[in-house]
Amino acid sequence: NSGADFIVVANRLPVDLERAPDGTQRWKHSPGGLVSALEPFLRSKSGAWVGWPGVADVDVEEFDDDGLRLIPVTLSATEVRDYYEGFSNATLWPLYHDVVESPVFDRTWWDSYVKVNHRFAEATAAIAGPGATVWVQDYQLQLVPQLLREQRPDLRIGFFLHIPFPPVELFMQLPWRTEIVRGLLGADLVGFHRPGGAQNFLWLARRLVGLEPSRAAVGVRTRPGLIHVGDRPVRVGAFPISIDSAGLDGMARKRDVIQRAQQIRADLGNPRKILLGVDRLDYTKGIDVRLHALHELLVEGRIDPDEVTMVQLATPSRERVEHYQQMRAGIEQVVSRINGEFGKVGHPVVHYLHQSVDRRELVAFFSAADVMVVTPVRDGMNLVCKEYVACRHDLGGTLVLSEFAGAAAELTSAFLVNPHDLDGVKNALHAALTIDPAEGRRRMRALRRQVLTHDVDRWARSFLEALGSQGLN
Ligand code: G6P
Repeated sequence: NSGADFIVVANRLPVDLERAPDGTQRWKHSPGGLVSALEPFLRSKSGAWVGWPGVADVDVEEFDDDGLRLIPVTLSATEVRDYYEGFSNATLWPLYHDVVESPVFDRTWWDSYVKVNHRFAEATAAIAGPGATVWVQDYQLQLVPQLLREQRPDLRIGFFLHIPFPPVELFMQLPWRTEIVRGLLGADLVGFHRPGGAQNFLWLARRLVGLEPSRAAVGVRTRPGLIHVGDRPVRVGAFPISIDSAGLDGMARKRDVIQRAQQIRADLGNPRKILLGVDRLDYTKGIDVRLHALHELLVEGRIDPDEVTMVQLATPSRERVEHYQQMRAGIEQVVSRINGEFGKVGHPVVHYLHQSVDRRELVAFFSAADVMVVTPVRDGMNLVCKEYVACRHDLGGTLVLSEFAGAAAELTSAFLVNPHDLDGVKNALHAALTIDPAEGRRRMRALRRQVLTHDVDRWARSFLEALGSQGLN
């Protein structure tokens, strides 16, 4: 196989290998925002994607998936535990999400993180053509830019972080803070969702590595900041990610999807109003917040359980990590409490599915929902809220969105809430449920203007342009 010119490197491949108990295997779509944002973009390019197939100890050969070259990286069961569940998702994930849960600092996990980052760098170095563009993704692979540069100085290397980059006081807790900053500085361009993340990173590069920014860090607000590692320039900037807006808009207009949305409403007993939550089952998503708000509104009689139904779709995620197990139990308890107190036989108030739902079905749910509730306590961007907006070509539907999601900076016509302020969330839910239809359409029109003009293609192009990549057309 000849060397690839454009390579995405991410912890996960866009497809996951699933093994049934009878030994049969099949590939299914991977969960999460990173894959749903990047996949449509990359499929239109014919590049290569280096990533883990999602199960331990499988040795899969490189294969072609609809024109996209997939290069699997094998992880052992111990590495899944230490590098993925441990360092990535019980150290970095909570630390970067404002320590919503306490991060665990474990030296064995760090060793595994280093080792696996080496493996990703080697797999990439082996397939990259001369001068290729390599785009490394997310917190699981922060050492790859530097490791790759050591092996292949000819490559153009970009890095993008899909989760928030934390305030410096929190990042400074990390025993391996300098190694991570040095790892990222191996890239030619380091991208974040928000200007604040870029500024924090520049501060850390100065404090931990002694690098002075060439342009004032303030410049990050409007254009990438610049620092030099030796003579090599490294750009640092904000690039808010988005979705395949036109693709979703088109899917939501399809006749079978519209019919499916009507069917969903009918299956729910044609309630007057449907509230919808769609998330990976993660403690950062504030699923409990919206359930508590709903519960109090029911208790106070501000919501009539005969008129309002809530659907919560929760995609299973990181199920062996303890924080996730505790949170799941908590959420399931509130769901049963609400249904126990306010449901009727055949008519629960909250319909809770702990399952992954395919794309078309998801679009039908978005189309059926009157109020979309997105209440993370911290979220890098949150793409679900943008997906909801892209699907509402009918200008129906109202969005309630947390101020602590990166998307709040763009979706200012949503009902913005502070998820820590339960009364505020309750008032926003109530206002969204009782909104005047003309006002609802006005807000949705403004949201759609933003989402339809700022799609994932524009995001990727602006990043790759700033990277100076020649690889795409
Ligand atoms: C977030 C992260 C991604 C991750 C996804 C799913 O979107 O930014 O890097 O892939 O969650 O999580 P998982 O641990 O299942 O890959």
